[in-house]
Amino acid sequence: AIDPQFTENREQVDEHNGHSVWGPVDEPEELGIHGTHVAVDFDICLADGACVEDCPVDVFEWIDTPGHPESEEKADPANEAQCIDCMLCVDVCPVDAIDVDAG
Ligand code: SF4
Ligand code: F3S
Ligand code: ZN
Repeated sequence: AIDPQFTENREQVDEHNGHSVWGPVDEPEELGIHGTHVAVDFDICLADGACVEDCPVDVFEWIDTPGHPESEEKADPANEAQCIDCMLCVDVCPVDAIDVDAG
């Protein structure tokens, strides 16, 4: 599962689609965590798609990640600022790849 303390345990190494990327990143096999308020661990995501389908405000957008061992698509939190903290995505992800800091 995604580490809920990732902002303390990882370093911000990049930006993507207006959000932070938390390393380590070693493309294409290791992609890190995308987003901060809505964070998706790309190294855990296996492209189930429940988050993309169920988010009521369309926070997630598919991006292609060719060569990643888990899946060649990831749910990118492209619109994390729109999140209304419903926690649905956290509940539906089968591999607990998502952390939402509703704090
Ligand atoms: Fe979307 Fe709710 Fe997840 Fe926020 S917590 S990204 S609004 S499903
Ligand atoms: Fe990935 Fe979980 Fe969404 S596997 S596509 S973050 S439901
Ligand atoms: Zn991203």
